[in-house]
Amino acid sequence: MEAKVISGGTRFTSLPRSYVRPESERPRLFEVSAFEHVPIIDLGCNDRSRVVRQVGDACRVYGFFQVINHGVSTEAVERMQEVAAEFFRLPEEEKMKLYSEDPTKTMRLSTSFNVKKEKVHNWRDYLRLHCHPLEKYMEEWPANPPTFKEFVSNYCREVRRLGYRLEELISESLGLEKDAVRNILGEQGQHMAVNFYPPCPEPELTYGLPGHTDPNALTILLQDLHVAGLQVLKDGKWVAIDPHPNAFVINIGDQLQALSNGRYKSVWHRAIVNADKPRMSIASFLCPSDDALISSPVSLLDNGCGPTYRDFTYAEYYKKFWSRNLDQEHCLELFKNQA
Ligand code: OGA
Ligand code: NI
Repeated sequence: MEAKVISGGTRFTSLPRSYVRPESERPRLFEVSAFEHVPIIDLGCNDRSRVVRQVGDACRVYGFFQVINHGVSTEAVERMQEVAAEFFRLPEEEKMKLYSEDPTKTMRLSTSFNVKKEKVHNWRDYLRLHCHPLEKYMEEWPANPPTFKEFVSNYCREVRRLGYRLEELISESLGLEKDAVRNILGEQGQHMAVNFYPPCPEPELTYGLPGHTDPNALTILLQDLHVAGLQVLKDGKWVAIDPHPNAFVINIGDQLQALSNGRYKSVWHRAIVNADKPRMSIASFLCPSDDALISSPVSLLDNGCGPTYRDFTYAEYYKKFWSRNLDQEHCLELFKNQA
């Protein structure tokens, strides 16, 4: 189905039909309440065992949490946000030079989710970049705005350090050596999605991103400070995660669910849109290396019935993920061992 960017600058007065969800799939925004007790973990806290415990609890119960005092500088965050906003303000012709619907491309501007596979589109444009190793990928990044490469690469470096720290905490919270998770994930890739959700004439009828889990290991999400839109599924209900100043939202991806033998949850989440304001979110994804074998350490197979999932390489998983539509069953279900 034909689609192209919606951040072209003209404001839509009605929602094009190709974005309208069937009645049963709509977001039912009137039923969504704010999530009052989102775990907020202070990474600046000196009591490491306390932080490890908090991380473990959050991963087990919710599959996500927020972090503050995370070590990513305010300057890096602000510059990233500024240059990303500036990018989406570029003229449509300029942006369209980067447009592609091919998910195997390492740098592209695209729209919705997987335009070639989906039946209904989503109210989102996104710039997707590979970010590691930086020297390899920066070359192909947008040359406009002129500060783009400098600001984004800085941000990527700082976020990667945070990701490693979180993986160590996650490792320890599983009772493993602090390097164990990183060792399994191999030389990790890093991708970024700069998501832009323009004001939407009929937010009740569509999504920015429909409910999904992230296929990677760990996601570090920078929410728009002024416009809410992220919701997570908790006890069967969608709840809104309002932005918290100076915080990142961290969510467990499918690979950490598999590696932890299902102890930690790759949380279902979605982005909804609103009628008045554009919203931008910046997601950084840490991904296992293509040849990493995703397999639970023996110490986590203590449930008496062996591993929940069969071993697989990340390359195999990723291919399967992009061959599907986003809002289908959990991709991990396809890798489950028979009970
Ligand atoms: C994503 C995502 C949520 C948001 O990019 O995978 O879930 O708030 N984004 O934009
Ligand atoms: Ni996501």
